[in-house]
Amino acid sequence: MLKLTYLSHSTFILDDGSHRLIIDPFITGNPTCPVKADEVQADFIVLTHAHGDHLGDGLELAKKHDALVIAVNELAGYAASNGARAHNMHIGGAYTFPFGRLKFTIAHHGSASPDGQYMGEPAGVVITMGGKTLYHTGDTGLFLDMQLIGQRDAIDCMMAPIGDNFTMGVDDAVLAVDFVKPGLAIPMHYNTFPVIEADPQAFARGVEGKGFRARVMEFGETIEL
Ligand code: NI
Ligand code: MN
Repeated sequence: MLKLTYLSHSTFILDDGSHRLIIDPFITGNPTCPVKADEVQADFIVLTHAHGDHLGDGLELAKKHDALVIAVNELAGYAASNGARAHNMHIGGAYTFPFGRLKFTIAHHGSASPDGQYMGEPAGVVITMGGKTLYHTGDTGLFLDMQLIGQRDAIDCMMAPIGDNFTMGVDDAVLAVDFVKPGLAIPMHYNTFPVIEADPQAFARGVEGKGFRARVMEFGETIEL
């Protein structure tokens, strides 16, 4: 059993009943997030990269809840130097945590902290938890090696950015789903700011046209996978 909550942008909470993991906790300053940071609890904080709309409240939440930050080496080191507990990993590496297995994958993007420091490579992440395997692409453009990610692990649920400008837009995200062939595709990273306005229903129609399932989650909605 795995409960998946979408808080908007790239922020998801995974809860298997025993562990609670939040990916890219952009809550404070996110105009589309329906909750406040003090309403969010987590045991694990997964960061795909250090941009402000992904690192977000990560360090504060980590310290407040004694949650473990999981990120690539440079970003995990930054979290640790700011007083958080952190687990350093890197792209291509997997590790088995109390909640399950987590592996970082490539993403074509940038990664600097809000104060301008180099934070290593941006990443996507494949997480197996509660009997389900999820692929959160992080911020990325389309790349053909996504096929390899879908071949390596049967992906039950894929979260793909559709907002364009900084990441894939709708059409590239539909192709990305066709590369990965997940059981379910969920759009993310759209309508947070005017520059990333996109139509999630157009994504859903495109995905269904390729023969895959799509689900447009409301901001704040929880589903069971
Ligand atoms: Ni970014
Ligand atoms: Mn972003």
